[in-house]
Amino acid sequence: MSDFSLEALLDSRRGEDLDLWADTINPQFVRVLRTIGFDRTWARAEGAYLYDTHGTRYLDLLGGFGMYGVGRNNPRIRAALVEALTLETPGMLALGATLLPGLLAEELIGLAGGRIERCLFTNSGTESVESAIKLGRTATGRQRVLSADHGFHGLTLGATSVNGNWEFKARFQPLLPGCDQVPFGDLEALEVELRREDVALFLVEPVQGKGINLPPDGYLAGAQELCRRYGTLFGVDEVMTGLGRTGRMFAFQHWGLEPDLVTLAKTLSGGYVPSGALLMARSVHEAVFDSMSHAMSHGSTFAPNELAMAAGLATLHELREECLVDESARLGRRLLELTRPLVDEFEVVRDVRGLGLAWAIEFGEPQGGRMTYRMIERAQRGLFAQLVIVPLFTKRRILTQVAGHEMAVIRILPPLVVTDEDVEEFADALRATVRDAQRMPKSLTKFALTAASAGVRR
Ligand SMILES: Cc1ncc(COP(=O)(O)O)c(C=O)c1O
Repeated sequence: MSDFSLEALLDSRRGEDLDLWADTINPQFVRVLRTIGFDRTWARAEGAYLYDTHGTRYLDLLGGFGMYGVGRNNPRIRAALVEALTLETPGMLALGATLLPGLLAEELIGLAGGRIERCLFTNSGTESVESAIKLGRTATGRQRVLSADHGFHGLTLGATSVNGNWEFKARFQPLLPGCDQVPFGDLEALEVELRREDVALFLVEPVQGKGINLPPDGYLAGAQELCRRYGTLFGVDEVMTGLGRTGRMFAFQHWGLEPDLVTLAKTLSGGYVPSGALLMARSVHEAVFDSMSHAMSHGSTFAPNELAMAAGLATLHELREECLVDESARLGRRLLELTRPLVDEFEVVRDVRGLGLAWAIEFGEPQGGRMTYRMIERAQRGLFAQLVIVPLFTKRRILTQVAGHEMAVIRILPPLVVTDEDVEEFADALRATVRDAQRMPKSLTKFALTAASAGVRR
């Protein structure tokens, strides 16, 4: 019998990464990567840096859509995982209880405070959202679920039903009945719906990931109050914003909120193991798990996963020991200080916004109108943003992303371990890249139109 060696296997197939993905996983995705020049072959990663097979360093400001809060390949999370494997912990018992999940649940509940007294573990963000919808409806005996326009909550069927972006939903109809969206920031519109007293749950991202939209003053507190008044559960989706991203452990703590439901994932297991959680008020949990025969009403074979729990505990320890939540707040302020001036420097920059290390820049047609800008935006809305992220990556070696469909917005969700120098490097590179893109040289325009015809949207 031959030994299995991951290293030998990888060595024997080096360089096949993109072709193999195209053959077996998703050819259209590989086509997108090739069109926009993101088709590198990656060798390794550390903290906020990725290295390609030539040894070139890239600054990763996307952090795996925000899941590498404690940095890629964090050695202390890795050590905890190795320790868990070495200890030969009992793993998932199915019919039995082990210590690690209880320890992580206890910590998360303590950090969330307020009404939160129970934790249900899942394997991803979208599963946490599914759980919120399902348990929220059963706990209240109501069917409708409200969410916000432009909200993003994941891509399984229930989560897609509460998605506030039509492009994610159009091709997958019919979705779950009774799921409607209201404009983000509009309390009157919310009250019109809640007044019917048939809404189980209002689910909202404290800061919207698609576009990094910040809530208007008083909005979230007002929404919570309306939910209480009309017997609706108030749920905050903290999959992206949770665990330090916005400069507080949970984003809802910026506004002193006391939600009934909180969804978590991404940073929760340090980026190593799929993991998520739904934190909830005791009343919600007890309304669903209300008897021994209902003790297993909801759950999943893999959750709580023992390695995810070990990584989760180590991640919370890391956030605390390295003061990463405070760092996120500090570096977020520095980032705004360095990038807000771009609004005055460039006609094409409409807005720069952020909270902690969730940051975005928005573009708009320059005053007086520019033919090329209009032509590019007519080919595909938001395409100008591609003209910035592509050279940021190919020339400046910085990974960022367009913040959503048909949005001229770029966002970053960097690992919270980025340094002042990283932030400064990004601000300088952004300024130079926006300056070039605003001039719209022919080569860039040509690239943009090719990308548009290839249907590059994300
Ligand atoms: C706010 C929010 N909710 C839910 C999800 C879905 O999480 P996952 O991709 O782990 O299913 C995401 C993912 O980006 C998210 O940002």
